[in-house]
Amino acid sequence: MDYLSLIKEPIQPELDEFVRLFDKSLEHPDGLLSQALTHIRQRGGKRMRPMLILLLAKNFGQITEATYHAAIGLELLHTASLVHDDVVDESEERRGQASVNAVYDNKVSVLVGDYILSTALLHVSFTHSEIIVRYLAQLGRTLSDGEILQLSNIQNREISETVYYDIIKGKTAALFEACAAIGAQAGGAVEDDVLAAKKFGQNLGIIFQIRDDIFDYFDSREIGKPTGNDMAEGKLTLPVIHALNTTGNEEMLRLARKVKMRDIKPDEIVRLVAFTKQNGGIEYADRRMWDFHREGQTFIETRITKPEIKRALQAYLDFVIERKN
Ligand code: IPE
Ligand code: IPE
Ligand code: MG
Ligand code: MG
Repeated sequence: MDYLSLIKEPIQPELDEFVRLFDKSLEHPDGLLSQALTHIRQRGGKRMRPMLILLLAKNFGQITEATYHAAIGLELLHTASLVHDDVVDESEERRGQASVNAVYDNKVSVLVGDYILSTALLHVSFTHSEIIVRYLAQLGRTLSDGEILQLSNIQNREISETVYYDIIKGKTAALFEACAAIGAQAGGAVEDDVLAAKKFGQNLGIIFQIRDDIFDYFDSREIGKPTGNDMAEGKLTLPVIHALNTTGNEEMLRLARKVKMRDIKPDEIVRLVAFTKQNGGIEYADRRMWDFHREGQTFIETRITKPEIKRALQAYLDFVIERKN
């Protein structure tokens, strides 16, 4: 069986119910907003975040009304952040279709993203759990903080792995962290298990983003969004950071500074990517992902008690590292 089927196996009816409620939360009677929301609903994404919530809630207890509302709130927050992200990154494709900014424009994207974000707040308020509401509010701040750190790091001359991790922990891993913690919390886990779940979510999120960043070094149709964009946008990610810092190659450092000054030409990106591959940048990023994978493995072995959830989370952990889109 493939990874996604294994992940879904113990939660299929609940996931179907989630999708039904999620799609309903993005309904609007008429006008431009309705059109834009329909466009977004058309391509659902992998549902990684809600699946994580449902699996953890089920391991530690059961899936309740509040669990669904929390999952809807978090997936909506993710959706809003993607709509805004494509404006910030000037990206024309998302989930294998035109991005909202490509179909409409930046103004529509900003406003629709705000509408979805507010819908997320509404849904977490339906959980009647102060802890979950606080989580989501804090998470919204952390995601923005990560994105802004990434933006300001473009101006930073230093090329640092530490800053890279700070950025991806903020912009991506925090969301997985919140899903794992909220799932465990909603299922009634004790505090120690909630904290361990949170750490597990962070490991998943870090692996998820490193994999995403590796995609950018290769051409592929399967991914459903443009590749080769990061350097053009001023971003240096783990593979190239490693290649630069281990070789100290002057000429390539000069190109890296041009990346940061948003002054890099397409043929120079090609050279920097080739240099990264020749100097083990991809293999290094791969090894780092396996380090986080090992930590995740320990969580599954020590904290997950139900065998069917164990199998699903194992598949989840393997999927984030080996996924093709
Ligand atoms: C995209 O997330 C944003 C990143 C963290 C790289 P996903 O690739 O999980 O998006 P969907 O939800 O499946 O579309
Ligand atoms: C990552 O953004 C996820 C968000 C916080 C929206 P990226 O810009 O790195 O991800 P993609 O490649 O557009 O999905
Ligand atoms: Mg971005
Ligand atoms: Mg982007």
